Amino acid sequence: MIANEIAGKLKANEIFSEVTAVAPGFINICLTDTFLSKLLNDMYSDERLNLPLLNPKTIVVDFGGPNVAKPLHVGHLRSAIIGDSLCRLARFLGYNVIGDVHLGDWGLQMGMVIAEIKRTQPNLPYFQPDFCGEYPNVSPVTVDELNVLYPTASARAKVDEDFAKEAAQATVELQDRRAGYMALWRHIWNVSVEDLKKNYDILGVHFDKWYGESDADEYIPQVMNRLKERNLLRESDGAQVVDVARDDDKEPMPPMLIVKSNGADIYGTTDLGTLIQRMQDWNPDEIWYVVDNRQALHFKQVFRCATLSGILSDQTVCSHIGFGTMNGKDGKPYKTRDGGVMRLSDMIETVTSNAYSKANESDVIDEEDKKTAIAQLVGVAAMKIGDMVNHRTKDYIFDMERFLASEGKTGPYLQYTAVRINSVLKKAIDINANFGEIITPATSTERELMLSLISVSEALLRALSEKAPNVICEKLFEITGIFNRFYFENKILTCQDEKQRSSWLTLLNATYRMIQILLSLLGVGIPEQM
Ligand code: ARG
Repeated sequence: MIANEIAGKLKANEIFSEVTAVAPGFINICLTDTFLSKLLNDMYSDERLNLPLLNPKTIVVDFGGPNVAKPLHVGHLRSAIIGDSLCRLARFLGYNVIGDVHLGDWGLQMGMVIAEIKRTQPNLPYFQPDFCGEYPNVSPVTVDELNVLYPTASARAKVDEDFAKEAAQATVELQDRRAGYMALWRHIWNVSVEDLKKNYDILGVHFDKWYGESDADEYIPQVMNRLKERNLLRESDGAQVVDVARDDDKEPMPPMLIVKSNGADIYGTTDLGTLIQRMQDWNPDEIWYVVDNRQALHFKQVFRCATLSGILSDQTVCSHIGFGTMNGKDGKPYKTRDGGVMRLSDMIETVTSNAYSKANESDVIDEEDKKTAIAQLVGVAAMKIGDMVNHRTKDYIFDMERFLASEGKTGPYLQYTAVRINSVLKKAIDINANFGEIITPATSTERELMLSLISVSEALLRALSEKAPNVICEKLFEITGIFNRFYFENKILTCQDEKQRSSWLTLLNATYRMIQILLSLLGVGIPEQM
């Protein structure tokens, strides 16, 4: 009855060609062709293609999360790709976004590396307790050495108990800011971060802040005060913990560990310190933690403890934006052929060199520089779309052949379609063709294309509310799929009807700009040719 009544009222409106109530309570609405083309013309004349702009909010996005001194591996790849896309989306929709890499630069791995350097180069001044000169300003280790140092140290710690103790002790002394260790730490940090930046640059992933766990250290006393003030700390086996369980918990919720018996900072406490800094400096409306699903319990504990202690106010919402793992074809977390964890730099190299071989086969691209640049754009697109086409919470299988294919739901397919539209547009400009008003759709495919374009706004809002870049991917595959059909069904440039041709060219231009915007939200660029 209600559907009928609404349908009856809507019918009166000239923008609908058909409004029908359908049992058990749906309403089917058809837009008139005239109204549809008016929407498209409006969209075309707006720089943002009429995409929404929301009331400003401040959002901190905690993503990337690589660890200093440990090679950046594929486990960190998803966080970088998804987090970067969420930053771009939120920014585009009008939010003030602060992307923070939150380096793991203060934990046991730093103590391990320091202990290992001490073992191999014991005479360095960093290890002399009474040294009071100037520490060298050149790092005693290179990034390649660093990449071997950590695995060596961590393997050693497993079999050599004394070494393990030394590494733990070095960690505590570093955190107590022993001068030599701080100087050595700074070198390791610089060498490591320089390498990280190189990798992220290739991926086109950008961070506003390069803060890390070490920056949270100065806020730990405030964390302890808050917890003490509210009587939240409890001793347990020599350690200090906070009970965060609630009566209505459906799953076990262990107490959160705040201080270990040896006094070293721990992951959760560091996250509480970081929260104090973020609240003080930015007082954000929301904080998004783009981190592996496996850390779900950790974030529940941190958020609960932060609320209990008053570190987090009611005005700030923290959410854990979890994601699944990238697996090999065997369905297990991705490894190299020899069984090791694939390093990100190696992976980027493999994908882009494969993309290069494909570019090399092409007879369209002649110059060497161009091939390299295109291979990079295509390789990165293959990796990013291969990841983001899946809902982030799902695991997916890394399959380079499939990711690089020019057909199917792949990055290269999207780029290829964009290049195709662009080449028609370029030819149109070359022959001085007119770009005129968009007239009513001539075919059902053209109508579908128009409808698909006007519903991008909804897709973006849904991607934002679900924090799900795959919604943007789906929209792109919809638009490009319809466009390719449209392209094969019509002769655009040679169309004799001038009004029709100039309308189609404008529609193509709008389609191209939309694809360009959507790809940019995924951090994917469009090559000049392919
Ligand atoms: N460094 C951590 C890791 O490699 C990720 C950090 C995530 N962010 C956070 N605020 N805890 O697992």
